[in-house]
Amino acid sequence: MPFRNRKIFILYCSPAGSTRHVSAVLEKELKNRNADVLCADICKEKESGNLLQQIRQAAEQGILFIASPVYVNRPLPQIMKFIEQLPEKTGAAVPIVTWGCVSSGIALYDMGKALKEKNIPLLGAAKVGAQHSMMWRSENPLGKGRPGPEDDKMLRGLTDALAEKLQKSPLAEIPLSALAYQPPERHAEMEKLSLAAAKSHMPERKTDENLCTQCGICAEECPVAAITLSPWPVFADHCICCFNCVRICPETAILSDMSPLEERIRSRAALLDEKPRTQLFL
Ligand SMILES: Cc1cc2nc3c(=O)[nH]c(=O)nc-3n(C[C@H](O)[C@H](O)[C@H](O)COP(=O)(O)O)c2cc1C
Ligand code: SF4
Ligand code: SF4
Repeated sequence: MPFRNRKIFILYCSPAGSTRHVSAVLEKELKNRNADVLCADICKEKESGNLLQQIRQAAEQGILFIASPVYVNRPLPQIMKFIEQLPEKTGAAVPIVTWGCVSSGIALYDMGKALKEKNIPLLGAAKVGAQHSMMWRSENPLGKGRPGPEDDKMLRGLTDALAEKLQKSPLAEIPLSALAYQPPERHAEMEKLSLAAAKSHMPERKTDENLCTQCGICAEECPVAAITLSPWPVFADHCICCFNCVRICPETAILSDMSPLEERIRSRAALLDEKPRTQLFL
C-alpha cells in the first residue's frame, strides 16, 4: 500500500482540456490504488489559499502532482505563482506538462527548479504530447488526437513507477538536470522567451457587436477572469491568450485570425522536431 497515509494533490490549469485529461487519468489510477486524492484546477479554484492550507497540513505526507500546459516554451504564470507559495515541507512533487507538439521548451525545467528552490524533492516528471490548443479550427492540428490511449498508458506507468519508489527509503529523487533536456544553446534562447514577451505578437481578438448577445459565457469560461461585459466583452491585460473565449462563444462573436500564426507554429514544429512526444522522467 505505497499510497497509504499519503495525501495526493493533483493540481493543474487547463484552458483547453488536455491537462485536465492528464490529471483525470492520474486521479482515476491513483484512486484505483485507494489513494486519498484531491484533484483541482487551480486557475478555476477561487480558494487556492485553502488548497495551500491543505498542502501545509499534509506536510511530508503530501505528494503534489502539478500540471501545466506549455505556453511559449514555459509553464503558465499561474502555475509558477502557485509553486512560489508552496510550503517547504511538502513531501515530494511531480511536475507535468502538456505541449502542442512544437516544443515542450523549458517548462518542466522551470517548474522543477522552482520546486527544488522550495526544497521539495522531485519524485518524477512527465511531458505529454497534446493537440495544439491554438489549432482547434484546423483539420489537421499538431498533436491531433493526443493525449490518446498510448499517452494514458504511459501515465498509468508513471503511477506504477512512483508507487514502487514510495516503497523504498530513502526516496529516490530525480535530479533537476534530468529536466534540462533541450540542447544548451536552445535552453538559453528559451530562457529569454515568455508569454508576456510574446503577447504583442498574438492574434488580436475583436468582438462583433452585431453577433454578441451579451450572454456572458466567455466571461464565465475565461480561466483567469480576464473578461468583463461592458456591455460587450472587454479583455483585461492579464489575459493569457488561451483563446477559450474565441473557441466557446456560441455566436462566434469574438473574431480572431489565427492563420498567420499557425504557419509560423508549424514551421517551428518542423524545425525543432522534438521527440518523444510523451516521456516519463523517473
Ligand atoms: C498561447 C499559447 C502558447 C502555446 N505555446 C506552445 C509552445 O510553446 N509549445 C507547444 O508545443 N505548444 C504550445 N501551445 C499549445 C499547448 O501547450 C497545448 O495545446 C497544451 O496541451 C494545452 O493545454 P490545455 O489543453 O490543458 O489548455 C500553446 C498554446 C497557446 C494557447
Ligand atoms: S460568449 Fe459570445 S455572445 Fe456571449 S457575451 Fe461572450 S462574445 Fe458575447
Ligand atoms: S480573455 Fe479569452 S484569451 Fe484571454 S485568458 Fe480569457 S478566455 Fe483566454
